[in-house]
Amino acid sequence: MLLLCALVLCVAGVASCEPLANSTYHMQRMLEGEDHLLNDLRDYIDAVQRKLKNIRIILSDARQREKEAQLDPLGFVSNPLNSFPLVRRMHSDVAALYSYLKREEGEHLQQIADYRLDVVSAADVQFAADSVLHIQQTYQLNERDLAKGLVQQKHYKAKLNTQDCVYLAKHLQRQGQQQQAVKWLELALEQYKETPERVLQELSLDRVAIQQQLTQMKLPQSAI
Ligand SMILES: *[C@@H]1O[C@H](CO)[C@@H](O)[C@H](O)[C@H]1NC(C)=O
Repeated sequence: MLLLCALVLCVAGVASCEPLANSTYHMQRMLEGEDHLLNDLRDYIDAVQRKLKNIRIILSDARQREKEAQLDPLGFVSNPLNSFPLVRRMHSDVAALYSYLKREEGEHLQQIADYRLDVVSAADVQFAADSVLHIQQTYQLNERDLAKGLVQQKHYKAKLNTQDCVYLAKHLQRQGQQQQAVKWLELALEQYKETPERVLQELSLDRVAIQQQLTQMKLPQSAI
């Protein structure tokens, strides 16, 4: 959290014309920021899990009571010893429970919302993507090798996943480089299995969505 704040101040200081991705100092800060973010996410998961456990206890207690009432609803509510607690519960317990449901999660979400992620701009991503494409051009690499971290007989411990490939494809398409874009999109499909499908679905990058983009891209320009 602090680190990303420091990043914000720092960027404000340099009038923000230079992309963050052009500075290893800023990129290191960004990496640290991601680490902090993941820790906060873990705290959030713990809090949600604790809450779910509590809600299950509350629910099962209420279900037990409800079961008894359902055996003879009329008889149940005719007894003030039942109707008073029922009215009291509906009036105050439910409201308290609802505010509990909202509260805890909201607190932890706020912690995550406090990250000034907006300092990482679209221009930063474009700059970083151009650096990758520059390497490809300089060394005349094919997309598949590059995505696997293979550059000039050296195998780097770095990979581009489906999300990265889709980004590069769209980036190239915006620049009118249709053929290149198609190759990156095909590669995005090849890499599909390496990322949990659930993640890709959350990012609206499921297989069908990518295939549709690919079909669109392959259409002759005149047809669009
Ligand atoms: C990136 O950094 C280099 C070296 O400091 C500098 O020459 C170049 O102008 C920078 N690029 C941009 C887009 O700011």
